[in-house]
Amino acid sequence: MTDPNRPINKPLTKAEKSAELKRKNEEALLGGGQKRIDSQHSKGKLTARERIDMFLDPGTFQEIDKFVMHRTKDFGLDKEHYLGDGVVTGYGKVNGRLVFLYSQDFTVFGGSLSETHAEKICKIMDMAMKNGAPVVGLNDSGGARIQEGVNSLGGYADIFYRNTLASGVVPQISAIMGPCAGGAVYSPAITDFILMVENTSYMFVTGPNVVKTVTQETVSAEELGGASAHSTKSGVTHFACANEVECLEHVKKILSYLPQNCEETAPVYPYENGGDEIRPELEDLVPDNPNHPYDIREVISGIVDSESFLEVHENYADNIVVGFARIAGRSIGVVGNQPQSMAGVLDNHASTKAARFVRTCDSYNVPLLVLVDVPGFLPGTDQEWNGIISNGAKLLYAFSEATVPRITVITRKAYGGAYDVMNSKHIGADLNYAWPTAEIAVMGAKGAAEIIFKKEISEAENPQTKIDEKVEEYTAKFANPYRAAHRGYIDEVINPSETRAKLITAFQMLENKVDRIPRKKHGNIPL
Ligand code: HXC
Repeated sequence: MTDPNRPINKPLTKAEKSAELKRKNEEALLGGGQKRIDSQHSKGKLTARERIDMFLDPGTFQEIDKFVMHRTKDFGLDKEHYLGDGVVTGYGKVNGRLVFLYSQDFTVFGGSLSETHAEKICKIMDMAMKNGAPVVGLNDSGGARIQEGVNSLGGYADIFYRNTLASGVVPQISAIMGPCAGGAVYSPAITDFILMVENTSYMFVTGPNVVKTVTQETVSAEELGGASAHSTKSGVTHFACANEVECLEHVKKILSYLPQNCEETAPVYPYENGGDEIRPELEDLVPDNPNHPYDIREVISGIVDSESFLEVHENYADNIVVGFARIAGRSIGVVGNQPQSMAGVLDNHASTKAARFVRTCDSYNVPLLVLVDVPGFLPGTDQEWNGIISNGAKLLYAFSEATVPRITVITRKAYGGAYDVMNSKHIGADLNYAWPTAEIAVMGAKGAAEIIFKKEISEAENPQTKIDEKVEEYTAKFANPYRAAHRGYIDEVINPSETRAKLITAFQMLENKVDRIPRKKHGNIPL
């Protein structure tokens, strides 16, 4: 406030002008006021500014639009103004690399999105795109500013539009740290990664009250759209984090595997070659009995740099495992069938999960390592009626159009269409390896024998003996990698223990790979 005793029309002195700036800065830092900050803390949540402090390298935050205020005068908004209008925006550094970010301030009108709030977010998104750096959104908002009507809706659409234009240009990451409801969910949904905090964040298009009215279901906000629901049931969120600190750490980790934009490659981490890249422990992972499970994560950690694997979508469609890792210090994306869950079969959810991840890696020049142990696609009415044809095609399409270096290792089963889909040579993989335990065939030996020797089996004196005999014959012929290796579909059959060494050399060889898909407006992936 200006001094009420000072004469009107007397210009401010320089000292007074400085004091005014100081006062405004202090006012802006308080957001919606101490009472509301205390209320935010009492819910176990940090404030918008505390989150930024925790996220960025110390002293690097440069705020933009700190003094922006809303324009609306309706419903008493002409009397209540807050500097910054419910969102803190700007840029700074994470591990020395530039990021643009916005952090919604729940203490100001519940972080609700006004026209000006949206303009602030759009401004930093435009800057991020022009300057080729990621955008991180820390979301904590009651949605559209109800008093503003269509101005607020227009603001959302302005953001959605930019999210779409920025998709595949600069990485976009959304951390949901409070409410995110109604149409507001569509901004995070378009970004590359969503992270949610357990028990304090939720996302839904329509909340529990509307659900109750329309479908008569009684459900809490947490059950309907909490981190657990979206990390296990819908797959909307890629990460469910125990608390805000973990969430912000995860965002930093994700950024460490990605380049700043689609024209660059990810940072290379220091890697010391100890001289021995042989991993004997990999020899024992695949059981002798081809029907016994094992954990593909153990194969992954045996191959990649120690402690470098960051699993994405860990609790969703766990019959396929996807995530980032490093090999000899360089970022890779890993996709692996998980024999420990439903024998690693491809179903609707696994296909869409992996397809999305493959496209994310390809967008940002992250090479792909694909580990294959897949008995095929999951049969059944549920799968067919829910679109396994289109969903499986998404994964096939995603691999086929990916121009990043792509390497496949078949550890065991590669059956049927799933062999083709899982980054086979035929759809453009650069190098295809197989372990001696690989079985590459149209289907499992038993199913195959029962079909092609149906007549012989039915006419046999002892059908079971006949089946066993034919299964053995089919197994001997096809349950190995050599048929495929004879044709060059497999470039090399390697021992498991030498996989890491082979992959280090192979990814180095592919470092300058140049590949282009035919010129087009954009492809038409079967959505
Ligand atoms: C204006 C809002 C607001 C909103 C909250 N506030 N949401 N002001 N517009 N959308 C204000 C409250 O008036 C309150 O002001 C302060 O924020 C904190 O809200 P509380 O209700 O006290 O907090 P809490 O109990 O934690 O509940 C949070 C909440 C609830 C669940 C988010 O506020 C709520 O249901 N808000 C409305 C949600 C909503 O229907 N949004 C529109 C969705 S439709 P004071 O002054 O007391 O601090 C939508 C369309 C987008 O978003 C379309 C895009 C295509």
